[in-house]
Amino acid sequence: MRKAEGAALCKLHLVTPRFTIHETIEVGPDIARIVVDAPRVARHARAGQFVIIRPLDDSERIPLTICGADPDKGTITLVVQAIGGTTTETNAMEAGEAFSDILGPLGLPTEIEEFGTCVVVAGGVGVAIVLPVAKALAEAGNRVIGIVGARDDDHLILVDEMTDVCDEVLLATEDGSAGTRGFVTDVLEKVMGAHDVDRVLTAGPIPMMRAVGELTRPHGTPTIASLNPIMVDGTGMCGGCRVTVGGETLFACIDGPEFDAHAVDFVSLQKRNEAYHTFEACRLRDAREELDA
Ligand code: FAD
Ligand code: FES
Ligand code: MG
Repeated sequence: MRKAEGAALCKLHLVTPRFTIHETIEVGPDIARIVVDAPRVARHARAGQFVIIRPLDDSERIPLTICGADPDKGTITLVVQAIGGTTTETNAMEAGEAFSDILGPLGLPTEIEEFGTCVVVAGGVGVAIVLPVAKALAEAGNRVIGIVGARDDDHLILVDEMTDVCDEVLLATEDGSAGTRGFVTDVLEKVMGAHDVDRVLTAGPIPMMRAVGELTRPHGTPTIASLNPIMVDGTGMCGGCRVTVGGETLFACIDGPEFDAHAVDFVSLQKRNEAYHTFEACRLRDAREELDA
């Protein structure tokens, strides 16, 4: 190797990528849309994939869906709901600051084909997870119906973005402040009665995804759930994200995160996700105190 090439290579290894934040915009209560530099991720990201970020040097690692990617600008868009210590730290960061690291794209991309009529069902921040999938399905020639739910109008997010990519978007709120009063499954039931649905995709709280699977099971409609188990490395090494699907143990970070909703053991998923609640509550309190200080 020539001396100049060697020097360039050393330099490359010494340069730490800067994951600089371009903007952090509040899109709902405690929910931020963050556009951040991650050129290599932006070039390779496909619908359904995620990144693992560490906002600060001493933060834990958390998985977040790649909600959007702009390969020309070298940026990705994340939509983050502050529900605990690390997501609170993440959303408190401002334009000009940089994440400590971003690893990705991780996970298998969504299977995209011309299926026919597809329904994407999202609850809460699950909309950020289904939005790129809805877009890819529409681009592949599918008729896409979006069902977006939240507890109230204030918590409905990305509705305009969903409207841009779906043929139709139906809303559900628990208090009836927008769309149908009730749950996304109430709306899905009506849609299943009115249309020949070829495929359903869902992301959001575990009980919601489970209910969506139970609703479509008697129809025999293929139903895919994007699972949200606790992840650490995101590369299949720690075993933290193991899920049971059809009696088989799989790792959501490398075998998923999307799985057949009719085969997922949602009860064990819920139980595993609740394992650290006491510790997480303390960590959230500490993060809030640090931010207030
Ligand atoms: P904590 O108080 O530590 O935890 C709150 C709850 O979040 C826990 O009870 C547990 O259920 C879950 N959780 C905690 N740590 C992790 C972890 N390391 N990995 C996964 N879940 C964890 N959230 C978004 O707001 N936007 C997204 O686009 C998004 N995409 C995701 C994609 C995937 C593939 C997965 C697995 C999760 C995704 N999540 C997303 C959830 C997000 O990772 C968690 O909300 C976050 O890790 C919570 O961290 P915390 O420290 O703020 O909260
Ligand atoms: Fe460690 Fe999947 S996150 S094996
Ligand atoms: Mg945490």
